[in-house]
Amino acid sequence: MIYHFQHLLREEITSLQTKKQTVGFVPTMGALHEGHFSLVSKALKENDIVVVSIFVNPTQFDKAKDLEKYPRTLNADTTLLKTLKGKVLIYAPKTDDLYGDQVVSKKYDFEGLEHQMEGKFRLGHFDGVGTVLNLLFRAIRPNKAYFGEKDFQQLQVVKKLVEIEQLPIKIVGCSILREPHGLAMSSRNKRLSPLQFKEAVVIH
Ligand code: PAF
Repeated sequence: MIYHFQHLLREEITSLQTKKQTVGFVPTMGALHEGHFSLVSKALKENDIVVVSIFVNPTQFDKAKDLEKYPRTLNADTTLLKTLKGKVLIYAPKTDDLYGDQVVSKKYDFEGLEHQMEGKFRLGHFDGVGTVLNLLFRAIRPNKAYFGEKDFQQLQVVKKLVEIEQLPIKIVGCSILREPHGLAMSSRNKRLSPLQFKEAVVIH
């Protein structure tokens, strides 16, 4: 089942939570690949229902071109998710359903994590990630949320975020899935030419 509006999703989750069903959550920006499906499968094993959000979050992009070019494949994503066995709810909101009319980031202090590595090169990125996850966590109120270790820095930031926001959510890190030649699976791989895709294996 796909939801575009938070209040309808909330109604459904509340009715399941009153029946003591546990909720797992897999936040994504769509363009789903095997890596995402491994998170959803793990979440389905550990919870009664799983919510998958598909939302390309504008506040975590520091370059307009990068946001514009991010792959968007909502129809294919929902078709694939519907083939999974188990109760999966998809939340694919428009920006205002999550943010209202203030599409801005909160400022977080992740104890320096946000200034290193990726944070050094993408200004405000982790504030944007923290902001959208805080909104999603409060809308969905999951018991557990699942994140790939591919984005290891993000995983540490999310663990800090739930401490700062005092959210009773267990953050579960999941191992990386790789292409046969070793490159980590990623939605952004769709933007690589065949040659770039081959060459990107040096990262591994
Ligand atoms: O890792 C991602 O896809 C995004 O950063 C996330 C966690 C869905 C937040 O927009």
